[in-house]
Amino acid sequence: MNKKIIITILVIIIIAIASIFLLGNRGPLTKTDNIPARNDTVINSYSISDIALHDKATDCWMAIDGKVIDPTVFIAAGLHPNDNIVDGCGKDATAMFTQVDKHDGGKAKTALKQYEIGVLK
Ligand code: HEM
Repeated sequence: MNKKIIITILVIIIIAIASIFLLGNRGPLTKTDNIPARNDTVINSYSISDIALHDKATDCWMAIDGKVIDPTVFIAAGLHPNDNIVDGCGKDATAMFTQVDKHDGGKAKTALKQYEIGVLK
């Protein structure tokens, strides 16, 4: 009889220790547990052949000064003063862009930054 009581107590103690150990290892149960940390240092880089795949007004990427720009929405919204911008789609348009004096102003610089999606490989 005594033996049975001792064994039962031992089993209860083992179960208690095991559950404390298992629950303790689960860590904090917050909703953000499985969301990976944001890494703002990752910069997308694209080759000129990646850019060449986006050579039309409705899907337009271009390289300017080593940056890759996706002005598709800018074009669709009619924000560029003319259609010349489409000539740069799918290319390294640095020369075409810098030739235009108006691009030296704040408006063009701000727009470039806004539509930047990465750097040229
Ligand atoms: C090869 C590509 C491009 C060409 C050939 C081009 C050509 C031009 C030309 C000729 C003008 C002057 C229009 C005028 O005098 O009324 C202009 C203005 C402008 N462009 Fe471009 N463009 C190009 C790409 C871009 C890109 C990628 C952006 C920005 C995302 C941009 C933003 C602007 C802005 C904001 C203006 C007006 C500047 C102002 O009035 O202050 N352009 N562009």
